Amino acid sequence: MASDALDWGDGTYELFSPALRPAAERLLEQAAPQPGERAIDLGSGDGNATLPLARSGATVTAVEPAPRLLGVTAQRLAVAGFSDATTIEAPAEALPLPDGSADLIVSNFAVIFSEEPEQAAREVLRVLAPGGRFLYTAWRTAGPLAEVSMAMRRAVAEAPANPAGDDDGGFGRGIPDESPGGEAPPRWDEPDFLAALVPGGAAAITSSEEFVDFTASSPDAWVDAMFADQPAWRAAKRAVDPERWPETEAEIREILRSGSLEPDRLVLRSPYVLVEVQPHA
Ligand SMILES: C[S@@+](CC[C@H](N)C(=O)[O-])C[C@H]1O[C@@H](n2cnc3c(N)ncnc32)[C@H](O)[C@@H]1O
Repeated sequence: MASDALDWGDGTYELFSPALRPAAERLLEQAAPQPGERAIDLGSGDGNATLPLARSGATVTAVEPAPRLLGVTAQRLAVAGFSDATTIEAPAEALPLPDGSADLIVSNFAVIFSEEPEQAAREVLRVLAPGGRFLYTAWRTAGPLAEVSMAMRRAVAEAPANPAGDDDGGFGRGIPDESPGGEAPPRWDEPDFLAALVPGGAAAITSSEEFVDFTASSPDAWVDAMFADQPAWRAAKRAVDPERWPETEAEIREILRSGSLEPDRLVLRSPYVLVEVQPHA
């Protein structure tokens, strides 16, 4: 893990990962792993996609840059009896795996956090075997959570410790930035850049529009929990000027109150795309 990269092992991601489990299951349904296929869960977190992948009978490798979370994936695999699964501590940009060694790579809201998207994509394409497929999920820039991301980015960019205004504490990565100015990095939710990286240029890319609902007893309870334990939110709070913080936090709470689909509790609908890439279809 690069020394300045967000550590997803900070806080307690496990408290929030259940919200992404339906998306992991949908991803696996689309991927339809076959028994014996060599399959990688890239950015496994605490194993949301790894466990169903192992249950499918595929030969599973979980790759995850945060050592603590990789340990949680390993433990869940062991408890479920998948002693032949492999776990590897590595980022997507430098996969310690041979060329053409995977039939299937899945990544549930994980590779999208890469600081070097093209390098991460090159690695995925290198490790995929001929006929292999890559499926991942990526947030759209829409909905209250994207608004929160933008608010947080603005606040971090104004912090005195970030004179270049380009360090968002890791918070914004994974949600495409639509703010004007600067050279936009490749967007995982608009994955044409992947086709351009395939030697020979041939790639079949399909995608479907999906959504995740985040729920909690109230917007304020959710915000409290996120800032206490969600790694990216914790990093963003650390990166904002403390004097600016109360205003930023109030803005975030208001976005979530007004963005909730239900008045008496929090229901946040966040759109995403499920992308399937077959480089050599
Ligand atoms: C939102 S969590 C998703 C975890 C898991 N896939 C799930 O469904 O719960 C984001 C994950 O992406 C991982 N990640 C961040 N940057 C990465 C990178 N460059 N390469 C691979 N994984 C990365 C984090 O360590 C974290 O586990």
